[in-house]
Amino acid sequence: MTVILSETQASAERFRLTLGAETPVVPTPRELLDHVEKDEHELLVVVAPEVPLTVAFELAKHYRLARPALGIVLVRQRLEVGVLTQAMQAGIREVVAADDAAELLAATRRSEQVSGTLNDKRPDLSSIKRGQMILVFSAKGGCGKTTVSTNLAEALASDPSKSVCLVDFDLQFGDVAVALQLEPAKTISDAIRMQHSLDIQGIKSLLTQHKPNLQVLLAPLDPSDVEFITPDLAQKLLRGLKESFDYVVVDAPPAFTEVILRAFDLADQYLLLTTLDTPSLKNLKVTLGTLQALGMPRSKWKVIVNRSTAKAGVTLTDVRNSIGLDIFAAIPASDAVPIATNKGKTVVELNPKHPVTAAIRGIVADLVGDSAGAVPIKGAGRASVKKPLFAFGKAS
Ligand SMILES: Nc1ncnc2c1ncn2[C@@H]1O[C@H](COP(=O)(O)OP(=O)(O)O)[C@@H](O)[C@H]1O
Ligand SMILES: [Mg+2]
Repeated sequence: MTVILSETQASAERFRLTLGAETPVVPTPRELLDHVEKDEHELLVVVAPEVPLTVAFELAKHYRLARPALGIVLVRQRLEVGVLTQAMQAGIREVVAADDAAELLAATRRSEQVSGTLNDKRPDLSSIKRGQMILVFSAKGGCGKTTVSTNLAEALASDPSKSVCLVDFDLQFGDVAVALQLEPAKTISDAIRMQHSLDIQGIKSLLTQHKPNLQVLLAPLDPSDVEFITPDLAQKLLRGLKESFDYVVVDAPPAFTEVILRAFDLADQYLLLTTLDTPSLKNLKVTLGTLQALGMPRSKWKVIVNRSTAKAGVTLTDVRNSIGLDIFAAIPASDAVPIATNKGKTVVELNPKHPVTAAIRGIVADLVGDSAGAVPIKGAGRASVKKPLFAFGKAS
């Protein structure tokens, strides 16, 4: 599954200690090409530090077209931002420091996951009409996914002529029911027994009404139900909802699960959240790299900084420079958020004039194509894609 490209015996042996003694090693690019051609199950090439960068970049460019499912992880003695940028542009999945065996193992696992998914061939299903599906995602918990999705759904539903469905796809630890104080009489779990005969009527019977034009599909009460909710069932549910509502807002778990990848396939917009701390920012970069590797269209990527006014030492400009994308929106930090949640309400409902409400309404205005409500963001441009820069691993 993994092959090492290494010119020296010593370097090859060190990698085998980390990746397993049976991992094949090839000493030249020519032999690598032969090896990969013979073994169609090969999913990953680890390029040792002594291999010249130009060789690594050429290989990455070649395989990006010839074998998109084959990942390349580059190992370097030192991580430099310039190299990271060039590497990502060439199509290398991750760059790892030579002395970080744990990160190398983690990078190989991530790459194998991406390869597995690419081999599954993902169709773009987002053109299914009629509604617009907005997926709220961050690979780290606590960034504000549930806050943003509940407030966004509430704001979208303030137009009485539009129908809105909020979906709690955090299948194990979903807390939309608690955040909106809804009685979970029916949940996604009820879809399990209906999955072979699930039609629009069946899907609608699973919804809980929150407002006249705002319905909610709640997460299972029992976290162990997650294993029965297959990606196909998830897709059926989302597809049915997208065909029935003007807007579908999906609250995600903090991970790239198979189920949430189906939501990425169907969604028209991805709201990708981060907060102003380095672990969140690092996870945002990994997220962007994964979306790129999976071929999820860039036009759908919308980076949102939540708690943007927190004095954390990381600024909006830092975020922008670090990811190489403009920030779509920023939502200020405010105690009004937990206070509203503790009352089972959204800030949008409870505090119509609050800056958090203004930020959410600005996002809505941009998403539904009415820029009148947009709020300019100081210190970071918005919405236009600058240059691709995905710094992975431990650097920057
Ligand atoms: N803008 C904000 N200002 C202050 N607190 C916030 C803000 N956004 C989220 N929070 C709080 O942070 C915590 C995590 O938010 P939550 O939406 O549950 O994150 P996630 O769904 O990503 O795990 C909650 O207690 C929430 O009230
Ligand atoms: Mg949540």
